[in-house]
Amino acid sequence: MNITLPSKICFRVTRSCNSSCRFCCAPPQGSTPHVSAIINRLDWLLSHGVRTVNFCGGEPTLHPDLDGIIGYSHRHGAKTELTTNGIHLNDSLSSILSKVKARVKVSLFGNREHHDFLAGNQSFDQTTATIDRLIRSAVPVAVQSTIVAHRLEMVDWLASFCMAKGIRQLNILPFIPRGNGKTVRSDFELSTRDRTTLKDSVKTKRRHYSNRLDIRWLDFNVKSIYVVETDGRVLIERMDENFDTELCSVDSLHTTSASEQR
Ligand SMILES: C[S@@+](CC[C@H](N)C(=O)[O-])C[C@H]1O[C@@H](n2cnc3c(N)ncnc32)[C@H](O)[C@@H]1O
Ligand code: SF4
Repeated sequence: MNITLPSKICFRVTRSCNSSCRFCCAPPQGSTPHVSAIINRLDWLLSHGVRTVNFCGGEPTLHPDLDGIIGYSHRHGAKTELTTNGIHLNDSLSSILSKVKARVKVSLFGNREHHDFLAGNQSFDQTTATIDRLIRSAVPVAVQSTIVAHRLEMVDWLASFCMAKGIRQLNILPFIPRGNGKTVRSDFELSTRDRTTLKDSVKTKRRHYSNRLDIRWLDFNVKSIYVVETDGRVLIERMDENFDTELCSVDSLHTTSASEQR
């Protein structure tokens, strides 16, 4: 089968999570594939032109073999990234991230009150402590934040936070009505006007901070991403699940090619 993949892909290693963000676009369903299935999928991706693997979920730090999976990817020539809520990132993982120079995107939604409200728990201290620890371990850290209606000013707080910590990248994700996001759409969806205001403000800040802080606008309302799901399917995910495209299932392709060889 002729499948063209981008050089970078989002790889879900689990759909479990230790948080309960109100708007989660990839909500916990509990599935966590075995490391052997993950390695097979990685081999297939790398043989199909993928060069950077962004481990995400669910919460990827909950996978019991994440250290080994990152090490394996690195040894096989892939660049690695991790997107995490930063609630539980232990020293062993921190040290492998530092060793392979993985870029880590930590999700922080704003100040304590706002972060804890959106996360549905009191994780602000854990998440910011993880950011501090990663910085001390010389791991390249980016802050990633979902922005919801009526709280556009959080972008100012986040930019100041990054500047104070010496963080060089801030990703701004306007809310999308996907997954659990559908159920909170009426509370969190940005109006067209809000979206324009937010986008302009990001543009202005980007100019203002120029070489000091790279503020990126990642709008999945318009941009689609390639994702490997926990069941091995490769999807192009869009703003709404109904518009996703399923490209293939890596596990069944592997099974097919293995049985063809016999
Ligand atoms: C699905 S999470 C998975 C990784 C990890 N658990 C985390 O929270 O960083 C990946 C990113 O998607 C963002 N996100 C989740 N739901 C969203 C939504 N409905 N709209 C926009 N961004 C969302 C999160 O804030 C996080 O930065
Ligand atoms: S956004 Fe990430 S941390 Fe929050 S519930 Fe979803 S998977 Fe968990």
